Amino acid sequence: MTTKLQPVRGTKDILPEEYRLHHYVISQARRVLAGYGFQEMVVPIFEFTEVFKRTLGDTSDIVSKEMYTFEDRGGESITLRPEATAGIARAFISNGLSQHVPCKMFTVGPQFRYERPQKGRYRQFHQVSVELLGAKEPQADVEMMALGYQLLSSLGVDDKVTLELNSLGDAESRQAYRTLLIEYFSDHKQQLSEESVIRLEKNPLRILDSKDEGDKQLVAHAPALADAYTAEAKEFFAEVKEGLERLAIPYVHNSRLVRGLDYYCHTAFEFTTTALGAQNAVLAGGRYDQLIKLMGGVETPSIGFAAGIERLVALVDASRAVALRPIALIPIGKHAEQEAQKLAYMLRQQGFVIELAYSGNVGKRMKKANKANACAALIMGEDELSSGHVVLRDMDQGQEERVAFDNVIDSLAQYR
Ligand code: HAM
Repeated sequence: MTTKLQPVRGTKDILPEEYRLHHYVISQARRVLAGYGFQEMVVPIFEFTEVFKRTLGDTSDIVSKEMYTFEDRGGESITLRPEATAGIARAFISNGLSQHVPCKMFTVGPQFRYERPQKGRYRQFHQVSVELLGAKEPQADVEMMALGYQLLSSLGVDDKVTLELNSLGDAESRQAYRTLLIEYFSDHKQQLSEESVIRLEKNPLRILDSKDEGDKQLVAHAPALADAYTAEAKEFFAEVKEGLERLAIPYVHNSRLVRGLDYYCHTAFEFTTTALGAQNAVLAGGRYDQLIKLMGGVETPSIGFAAGIERLVALVDASRAVALRPIALIPIGKHAEQEAQKLAYMLRQQGFVIELAYSGNVGKRMKKANKANACAALIMGEDELSSGHVVLRDMDQGQEERVAFDNVIDSLAQYR
């Protein structure tokens, strides 16, 4: 059945040309993150379902309809990770890392969500997920957003994004806000979508996230979270904003930004773009002071974000990640082929990028060298070899020179 040979809907193969850009995004992220003292780690791609269920929120879209959950052969309920924060928090507890706060960790890898696929939205996608565990001060929030902004700048996409910022307040603010929302939406219950009527009972904040047009109109006139901030929450938010201003990091306050996961408090932020259609967030996160405690660890105020690699790749200028240009070896004749294999082995050990075709006459090999975008070619004819020489051809200029075998490495220095 040929249809079975297609990748599963919402997943895709990333072929080398495209993966070069992924690699570029990841290596820039690693470089920028090192400057902030973050260390890379790996957590499993699947966890016990409870790890996500208890943390992301029963009424979140992710838990209620997007998780890849299955029973393994031992009867355990397992879920492919839809995001990395819960797994990192689990690892923080499992490995007793609370002695080592602040703990700065990041991970790179695939995430899985059963969402409706569209441009920039996949069922398997990749994130760089960055977590700062054990920092309660607003300076940490500022530093994380500065880090996100610097990462986007290093990729050359900072002028294509807007930092949208909001505060979700502390638990007390949200409790007060919940009451305000219940009052407001109960008065308009008839106009609410079916889904939002359920949300009204379980988690009215989630209504603010609704995609339903009718809901959106009601939301536009709903009370604002800011109306319910406690004095502490107000102060915390003010310090975060001042910190960003001190660093001249541009942001807009979006009082409707609530984020789709339950673990957030205080700072919530998203770097959004208008360049990717409906899927507008490229890097997003926030503060999660209660998550580790909720999972059974000691209270560890934390903040983090994740960058969507596919979305960043779509924004990055493709010319930023060019492939290394090889040096082609062009042997003529059997003996030269054997010599070329030895020379290729030696040059590769010296760090050169060498293209050596497995067969073909000079013409074919030259064609292949051009196709591989070689910057230089070493032409190895029997005559040259017998006098201990090769011909070095600059593929851009077309000039050729005879080079003694012993001088090959020096002559190739400019093509490294
Ligand atoms: P999130 O907002 O769910 O947050 O995802 C972060 C980013 O991942 C999004 O802004 C987007 O770029 C990318 N993304 C999400 N879903 C998809 C998809 N279906 N296809 C392609 N890209 C996608 C989190 O995941 C939190 N764990 C972030 C965080 C870390 N908060 C605190 N620490």
